[in-house]
Order: sequence, then C-alpha cells, then structure tokens
Amino acid sequence: MCGIIGYTGDKQAAPILLEGLRREAYRGYDSSGMVVFGTSPKLVRAVGKLEELEQKVATLSMDGIFGIGHSRWATHGEVTEVNAHPHADCKSNVFVVHNGIVENYRELRTKLKEKGHAFSSDTDTEILAHLIEHFFEGKLEEAVRKAMRLVRGTYGLLVAAAQDPGKLVAARLSSPLVIAVNGTGGFVASDPAAIITHTKKVVFLEDGEVATVTADGFTVTDLENNVKDKEITELEWSVEEAQKGGRPHFMLKEIEEQPESLQNALRGRLLVEEGKAKLGGLEPFAERLRSTDRLIITAMGTASLAAMVGEYMIEEYAGIPVEVENAAEFRYRKPVIGKNTAFLAISQSGETADTLAALAEAKEKGALTLGLINVIGSTLARQVQAGIYNHAGPEIGVASTKAFTSQVAVLALLALFFGRQRSLSLVQGRRIAEALSALPGLVQKTLESASAVEKVAEKYKDASDFFFIGRKYSYPVALEGALKLKEITYIHAEGYGAGEMKHGPIALIDEKFPTVAVVPSDSVYEKTLSNIQEIKARRGPIIAVASEGNNEIEEIADDVLYIPKTLEMLTPILSVIPLQLLAYYIGVKKGRDVDKPRNLAKSVTVE
Ligand code: M6R
Repeated sequence: MCGIIGYTGDKQAAPILLEGLRREAYRGYDSSGMVVFGTSPKLVRAVGKLEELEQKVATLSMDGIFGIGHSRWATHGEVTEVNAHPHADCKSNVFVVHNGIVENYRELRTKLKEKGHAFSSDTDTEILAHLIEHFFEGKLEEAVRKAMRLVRGTYGLLVAAAQDPGKLVAARLSSPLVIAVNGTGGFVASDPAAIITHTKKVVFLEDGEVATVTADGFTVTDLENNVKDKEITELEWSVEEAQKGGRPHFMLKEIEEQPESLQNALRGRLLVEEGKAKLGGLEPFAERLRSTDRLIITAMGTASLAAMVGEYMIEEYAGIPVEVENAAEFRYRKPVIGKNTAFLAISQSGETADTLAALAEAKEKGALTLGLINVIGSTLARQVQAGIYNHAGPEIGVASTKAFTSQVAVLALLALFFGRQRSLSLVQGRRIAEALSALPGLVQKTLESASAVEKVAEKYKDASDFFFIGRKYSYPVALEGALKLKEITYIHAEGYGAGEMKHGPIALIDEKFPTVAVVPSDSVYEKTLSNIQEIKARRGPIIAVASEGNNEIEEIADDVLYIPKTLEMLTPILSVIPLQLLAYYIGVKKGRDVDKPRNLAKSVTVE
C-alpha cells in the first residue's frame, strides 16, 4: 500500500522521484516525502495529497542526482509530517523508506536508546535508520545486511547514505521491490508502474535479498552476502494501459474494459470443439490434479467472492468438494490438509499479506499450491507451484472490478478443466466453452445499459442503507454489490442470501430502505421472486437485476436493470456489471474519490 521509489544517475533526482510517487499513488497513501542528496541531504515531507509535497519541493532547491522517496499509508504512528518517510538516523547520514512492519521494534528501540540514539517519530521504520547507522562503517550494503539480520517482520526497504553517495540499497522480506538500470541511471521501486517510463526491463527481488544499485549496475546478495544470479523480466504493460484512457476515473475505465479483459483471460484457453479448457500453467501437474479430492480456495475481499462463484461452479461441474477460506482466518485456525488437497490462492495484486500467509501455511502442510493472479511476477505468482494469470491488465482503481470478472471467467475454465478430467460429458463441456466464448460480447451489451444504471443511481443516491440479495450463483454477486457500494460511496450496505432475509434482516425494511435483488432467470428464480415479494409487502423499494425478456419482474420491482441471458454459472459475470456501475455513479454523484476511497489501499500488504 505504501510506495517506494529511488533513483541514482546523471539526472536531477527530485522530478524522477515525484513522477514515481505519482505513478504509485493509486495504491493509497496519506503522506509522502523524499530526500535528495546534493552537497548535503535535503529532506522534505508532507501530509495529504502529493501536491502538498510537490509544492514544498518547488520552493526548496532540491539539487542532487540521487535520492529516495515514499508515499505512506499509516500503520504505526499517526498521519503526521514527522511520521512520514524518509526517516534518518541521529547524524543525518542514513535515510530509509520502508513498506511493512518491524515487529520487534520496541526491543530494538530500547537497545538503540541505551547506545545513545534519540528518536524523533512514533514509527517502527525509524528504528531501521538508526540500526543501519549503528553498523555503518563506510559501505552501506554491509550495514544493511548486518542490521536486517536482527529485524523481525516484513519489509520492502530502500536505504541511501550521505557518506556512501550514489548508491541505493534495497532489502526485501514479504513486501515487493523491483530494481532496474537503464544506461542513464539505476532505479528501485515497490511497484513497476513507478519506473515504467524509464525502462521495461526490471529485476524482481525475492525475500531475503539485498540489492545494491548504482547508476551503471547492480548486485544482489542474500543477508549473508552470498551473490545471487537474477533474471531480467520484460514487463508486458504499456504506459498507456496504466492511464485512464480518456475516462474521468480509472474505475469507469476498468469497468468498461471488461469485454477486453475477459477476452484476454479466455484467449487460447478454450477448446470449443473438444469442450475443454487448456490451462498451460497447470499442465505439468495434470496427473496430480486428476487425483485431487478436495480444493481449498483462499482469498480476501472481492477475490474471495469470485472464489465463492468458483466453489459453486467446480462442485456443480467437476464434483470436487470445494471450500472457500478467508485467508486471514485460514492461517490461524489449524486447518486440516490431506495429501490430495489442492490449494488455490486468488489475488489481483499477488501481494495481499493474508493470502500470502495462508499460502505459506498450505505449502507447509503439503498441499499442491495453485495461484490465480493478475500481477505478473508478483510475490504470490512466484511462490505457487502452478499458476494461472487472469490477464486483466493493470487494475488501478482501488475497487476491484475487471479483476473480479476475469477471476470468475478463469474459475469457469478451471471447472471445465477439472470437470472434463472427471465425468463432465463432451456435450456439457462444449456448452460451457461456447457460453464462455460468447461472454465478451454479452458484457459489451450489458455495458450499453450504463445510462439506465445512472438514472437508478440518481434516484437512490441519498438512501442511507441498502440490502443486496441473491441466491445460488447470485449470492456472491449480492455480497460483491454490497462491498462495492460501501467502499466507493460510504453508504451502509449489506449482502445476503435472499433466503436469509426473513431470519432477521427484513426487520429493517421500510419505504426508505432499498434492496437490490439479483434475480436472473435461473434455477432459483421463483424462490428469489418470493423473497422479493416479502420485501415488497413491507414497502421496501426494489431494484432488480433481471434477465432480458422478463417482463413479469417489472410488476414487482420499482426499477429493473436488464442483463443478457447466459448459462446460469456465468450470470455473475453479467449481473455484477450493473452493480459496479451503480456504486460508481452513486460515488461520483456524492462527490467521492472513487478511485481512492478513504481508508483503503489497492494492495493490502500488512495483516
Ligand atoms: O489484490 P487482492 O485481490 O488480493 O486484494 C484483495 C482485496 O483486498 C480486494 O479485493 C479488496 O476487497 C478490494 N478493495 C475490493 O474492491
């Protein structure tokens, strides 16, 4: 969630650092800062938007050709200038920026205080500057290696020292870092988006590695100074892809990109005639997957709701028992994993701390670990035994939209893959494959009703509470609709299985409490309709998301948003779209920062 950027080369560092921070801003932050090393180190920090930092930089003369910068999302210590990074030691020699948490910071702080160090912030990060200074004897990388051996916790750490100029030292444990050297300088960033305009050839650091980057080269070692060979990765994403493409918000751009992101998720993976899915990443494990007798899927937030859709699809079409586990719970609750259990972690970012920790737990217990990930080269992608990318492209809006639909599409491919390994017939396989190939066109058609959603948004934007209900495949969609609305608009919203309403929630219904009912023409349509009628009888306004051709629903619902017909298992990919748009339009109408909602960050890299 915080952003790191460092530069050393022959250009002025300050503009490069500011540009990098701007490109990382989508991750969410509450303060920022940078240090540039000229004749002496110049440190500047600011609370609030990056513009605050930019203004300060403009008024100072920040001359210097190397420096480090950071955008912070507070974990330890309040949002204040003094708690913003970079942090320095008492002598203003060593400066650090850090993503993650130093778990043993109290113990380290006490020891450093005994040795005469004085601290100026409430952060755990400041300890690192003092600790590195404690070991500093002229070579920064040596001091970093010594210091980090004593640190417990997680870190993406970038360090620079006035007394060892021109050198950036980066260390990683459970928080991503990428380095690059492009002929005119060296870069370190927590997110490749920060350096994509300078070079697309990057090196991802692994846990336990320390990189020393200068203007013309880099070396990577472990904490014991053993040199590591590193591979250069050529990034796929263009700069344009990471921009808004003319829309007012990334969220809208990403909602509208879904026909394309689905196409990308499906490309080359559907064998329609054979009624099969071809998932290259799983092929080396095909035999082991054939004997898999249980699948655990773990994820957080929106990814866990995609997982629920996957659970229903895989159980229905492949007959494998599936459990969806909240990753933050899984890691602490002593789960039982058999030798034929497969474990699938789903994450857009591939950096979610809880999902990574759950994966580590499953790995230790001997499960075959699989990943469904969007960000290429992310930590999760590197840690699973077999992976499938959903190829949704960069998702910059904090609200997950196109990642969700492409995750569900890949889970449908997985259901097909597992199903055809077992008893799913050729005819059924073909039916799924054909329906999947038609999806991008149907999503496009769904998006064409955006103006109808906008009208509904206008009508209900002042409601203070919403229910979202659905059954079977529409149940996770209802949960996702509620999550989207609350995170983007700050309106209270709850999602329920429609059958749950009369067990309590319906007590809240009155004429001011709207319910969004996801009610496609599927196998549970009649049941959901009865639940809607119960709400109607209590004068609750109903907004229905229904299948085209269903005129009956107009007699019951106050407003209807139509989606095209598809196979029941694929309805979530269509029915979620009006819900994404509803959250978006209400958010915009209420003046919310829809791309960066308050208190949230794109990638949750702390527990
Ligand atoms: O990067 P991940 O998919 O692992 O992220 C998981 C959740 O943090 C994420 O889906 C979150 O719930 C979004 N804000 C939802 O829009």
